[in-house]
This record gives sequence, structure tokens and C-alpha cells, in this order.
Amino acid sequence: MSDSEDAQLEARLAEQDAFEPPESFVEQANVSDPGIYEAFEDDWPECWERAAELLDWERDYDEVLDDVEEPFYEWFTGGKLNASANCLDRHLADRGDETAIQWEGELGDTRSFSYAELHREVNEFAAALRSIGIEEDDVVTMYMPMIPELPIAMLACARIGAPHSVVFAGFSADALATRMNAADSEYLITCDGYYRRGDALDHLSKANDGLDGVEHDATTVVVDRLGPESEHDLGENQLDYDELVADHEGETVDPVTRDAEDMLFLMYTSGTTGTPKGVKHTTGGYLSYVAWTAHAVLDVKPEDTYWCAADIGWITGHSYIVYGPLALGTTTVMYEGTPDYPEKDRLWEIVETYGVDQLYTAPTAIRAFMKWGETYPDRHDLSSLRLLGTVGEPINPRAWKWYYKHIGGEECPIVDTWWQTETGGMMITTLPAVGEMKPGSAGPPLPGVSADVVDESGDPVAAGEAGYVTVDRPWPGMLRTLYRNDDRFVSEYWEGYSDPETDEWVYFPEDGAKIDDDGYITILGRVDDVINVSGHRLGTMEIESAVVGVEGVAEAAAVGGDHDLKGEAVYVYAILEDGYEESEEMEQAIVDGVTEAIGPIARPERIVFTPELPKTRSGKIMRRLLVDIANSEELGDTSTLRNPDVVSDIQERSR
Ligand code: PRX
Repeated sequence: MSDSEDAQLEARLAEQDAFEPPESFVEQANVSDPGIYEAFEDDWPECWERAAELLDWERDYDEVLDDVEEPFYEWFTGGKLNASANCLDRHLADRGDETAIQWEGELGDTRSFSYAELHREVNEFAAALRSIGIEEDDVVTMYMPMIPELPIAMLACARIGAPHSVVFAGFSADALATRMNAADSEYLITCDGYYRRGDALDHLSKANDGLDGVEHDATTVVVDRLGPESEHDLGENQLDYDELVADHEGETVDPVTRDAEDMLFLMYTSGTTGTPKGVKHTTGGYLSYVAWTAHAVLDVKPEDTYWCAADIGWITGHSYIVYGPLALGTTTVMYEGTPDYPEKDRLWEIVETYGVDQLYTAPTAIRAFMKWGETYPDRHDLSSLRLLGTVGEPINPRAWKWYYKHIGGEECPIVDTWWQTETGGMMITTLPAVGEMKPGSAGPPLPGVSADVVDESGDPVAAGEAGYVTVDRPWPGMLRTLYRNDDRFVSEYWEGYSDPETDEWVYFPEDGAKIDDDGYITILGRVDDVINVSGHRLGTMEIESAVVGVEGVAEAAAVGGDHDLKGEAVYVYAILEDGYEESEEMEQAIVDGVTEAIGPIARPERIVFTPELPKTRSGKIMRRLLVDIANSEELGDTSTLRNPDVVSDIQERSR
């Protein structure tokens, strides 16, 4: 293409605000009938049988939805199944030799597992887990980076009915301890280390530090990822993964029959208050929902090579690297490292090498690719791509269009999927072969999902006005409760907009949004005290408590300010105790404190020392004003402040 043609194309794209699904895509799509929305509506909740039908059930369910005890909904009650059997055993006859997991290490080493091989690995490890005493319903914590043993361990646990709780490997030792204590988890699976930008990172020491903070005895299994280059010693109650598995070579374990409503896993996520919330997902509803959405939205087919470039330590990886794709019997790609190692074309090299059909990633990554420029994707043949997806944070139209043009070659639909740890799977997005795409707007709720944008009192807002997302009907992938905390489950998600008197239960995801005349929803971001850094959810309270844990800090506020690449970044405003100096050392101590308590992702972008924080008369910190200051924006209303003078002082200090 000539430069002038290219410029014309750019100009056209910049103006265009709606895109039709490409014809070639529509022709082959799993779901292409626009009537699906009405069909689901007319047949709700039975429509969800379509999701359940994607699985093999050992016993049929009696009822699709049991809403006797709202909001403690149950799905596919009476049904029995096993998640590992659905992700492995049932594919053996037809697809045993096809690749289930295609793994690539950061250094370029690769490992590939056919369904038969993965089945074997999972069985051996399941036998090993049993041999160390793990029983049905024991919560097993996993603290592992992107190595194949992580999905193997998850499926092995699912096989024996032991729920897993995966803690993101980038989280700190403290975060691991908090989660193991909260779940009373007596088992940990971890590894010696992994590679980041070519360096071997020690992970086991961090895991061991975490174990020091665990209040009960725990047995640990350690995977050797780094090999002989990096020796590590095992402590008491620590077992080597390879030795353990070798003791169970060739063994098989019958998948344990689980009730549809039995817990498949726990995933801790950040909320408004300090302690992470243990989101509980179940076997029948969750697995049906992720299989259905992977089929309908990501258009996954068994013969595809599908790649979700997220980390399994987050919900996206659980649902759309492991459970959804494997339930559908496809090839799922796993990449260990960063997108710019050894070069900024690493992702495009992987797409070309494996002939990836679908790529699902986050806006933060797309913004980085855009900054690096199209020379990197241009080096590779990306024509295997059929669909692109994004998740985790709002995508700005410019980044959307760049992705559409330079990665999708204007031939791939993009699905901008809005969902949460709590929802289990996608909720608001276009169906790629049905809906027109509007860059920046996620789209309408999926068929069968009922979401709206409402004002404070719960009434729908007019088109174009900002309001809050609400979901007024249950869905199979929904969280069932917060682990061991039913009260918090009700108060966090259901109290805002429900009316128990009239039995109207409304789920509140704590996101702001707008809706247009076509019912397309544009997500504006969190309305609670949660910061979304590169698509990762961090609680302000957790960060603040880490900051005040630093010697010399009297009080602190953490907020999310805009950031070109990360979406949001952490800004800390701190008051020091008398006798402590506002110094670089103090700043460093705060950075270290936050990194240690949560992990490097929570590292503050900016620390501002201040003698006071803006507070309401009732003593609540006005975070909204601090956000305005972080963004160098005009300040909102300061009239309700007890100490309005402090604001200009903080502004001055932030410059
Ligand atoms: O604010 C929304 C944002 O991410 C939050 C959920 O975070 P988490 O539970 O960590 O799950 C992330 C992956 C599903 C939401 O409350 N979010 C997620 N997807 C989008 C989004 N914001 C805008 N557009 C999206 N597509």
C-alpha cells in the first residue's frame, strides 16, 4: 500500500464509529443468527440449557434455575459432573492426539501436550495429590507463574473435587499468606522460579516467606521450573513435583462426581475494604457459562489454535485459557513471559508460528503495541487471525482502531468483553457475527443477560447520561457467595439496588457506564475504591494499609490517576509523623512497603507528602478530589470539605 493510500485509510478509520462484522467471519461463525437475543428472552431461564448442553453430565439436572433463596441462586440443580472429565476425558476418543496446551517459555523453549498427554499428567498428579492427603473439598492454593504445571494442577484438583485457589505469582508473600489463611488452605503448589525478561526469578523464597505467615501447618509441592541452573532446597513438609509424580507414573484416578453447585474454585479479588474477597465459583454453572461464552463470543472451535494472552493467576486466565477452551476441546496457547522479550514482536511471532486463530488480550497491552508502532506486527504474517478480543478495562477508540487495522487487517471482528471475577464469564459484548461494533463501547448484554445503566435510585438513565451498571437477572456463571462470608456477599453486591420486599434482586458490579440509543453500553470504570492498573484490580484500602504500615507514616490515601499505558496508576498521598522528613528515602520506604505487601503491580507512580488530607465533615477522605489532583484536572465540588484550604496546598505539592 502506498503512503497516501495508507493515510486515506487512517483518515477513514479515524472517522468511522461503527463497523459491521466481516462477511467471511459471519459465514463460519458458531453463532450468527440475530434471532438469538429474542430466542433467549422468550425462553428464559431454560435458554441456559444451551450452555449446559456443551458439557457432559453424569446425571442430568432437575432444574435449570433454583431461585428459592435469593440472592443465593443455584443453577442446574441435581446435575452431576466433573470439570476435569469435561476438559479432558471426553475429548480422548476424537481428539486425543490433538494439542490441548501449546506452551512457550520466555526463552523460546516449548512444551506441547496432546489431550491424551494432558490427561495422563493430570491423572498422575491427581493420584499424587491424593497420596499426600488431599481430599474432596480441601482448598488447595496455587502460587505459580505461567507454566503448564499450573493448569495441570488445577485440573488435577478438579478431578478429585478439591477446589483450587490460585494466587497471582506477581503478588507478594503477604498476599499469599492472607489468602491461605482466609481459606484455611493446608496445601500449596508452587515452583522454584521463572523467567522474566531473560532473568531467572526466585519464586520459592517468596512462597516460603508467605508460608511463614500462614497460621496453620501446610504441605507444599514445588515444581522445578528452572532446572539444574538454579538449585533450591526443600524444607520440611515440602515435596518435589517430579519425584511425587514419578511415584504415581501411569496411575489413573476416576473423576470424582461433583454436584453442579459444588465449588470448583475460589478466587480472591480486591474490594472496597481491606480484606480480599473469596469469590466462589461452582462446577456446573461456571463451566457451562465459560464454555458457552468461549463458543458464542470467542467463536472457539475444536480445530482452532486459540490464544488468550492473560495470566492464569487472574479470572481471565481461569475462564479463557483453561476451562472454557479445554471444555470445548480446542488448542489453547500459553506464553510464560512478557510481550517485549527478546523483542517487541514476540506476540506476533507466536501468532505466526502457531497460526493463532483468536487473540484475546487487554487494552493496556494494545496501548503498548500501538506505542511501539506497527513495524513489529508488520514483520509477521498474522493472516491466521480470525477474531480479536479485549478485556479488563475500557479501550479507547484509537487503540481499538489500531488493533482492528494493524493486527486484524480489518478482517477480524473485535469483541470488547465486559465482565468481572464475580461474573465468572463475559456479560456485555457484541456477538462477533451479529452485532455492529462501536469502538470504545462494549456492546449490548449477551443473550440471556439482563443489564442496564441506572441512576442512584435505580431508574434507567437517558441515552448518553452516566449511571451505574446493574444486572437484574441471575446467570449461570455468577459467583455463589464470598467464601465463608454470606453477609458480605449480600451487602457488597445486592443491597444497593435490590428490593427484597418485592423480591427484586439486582446485582451491582460497582462500575459506572453510559448507554446509547441502541442499548450499547460504554463502561466508564469503577465507582468503588478499586484501582484498575493494567486491567488488574487493586483495592485502595489494601494499598493504604501497606503505606501506613511503613514506619513514620501517620495516614495515607491511595487513588487511581490516569496513565497512558496502564489505564490507571497508583497515586499515594501520605502524611508523615512528627520527626520524619519528607525525603527520597521515605518515598522509597513507601514503594518498598507497597511492593512487599501486595506486589510490584501496586507500585505507586507518585507519592505526594502532605500535612493533611481533604476530608468531609464526617471525616471521610474525599478521594475524588485526589483523583482530580492526580489528573491535573479542575477540581470538583470542595464545599463539603472540613478543610477546603488543604486542596490547593496538595495541588501545589503535586506539581
Ligand atoms: O471495571 C471493570 C473492568 O474490570 C473490572 C473487573 O475486574 P476483574 O474482576 O479483575 O476482572 C477482569 C477481567 C474480567 C470491572 O468491574 N473491566 C473488565 N472488562 C472491561 C472492564 N472495563 C471496561 N471494559 C471492559 N471490557
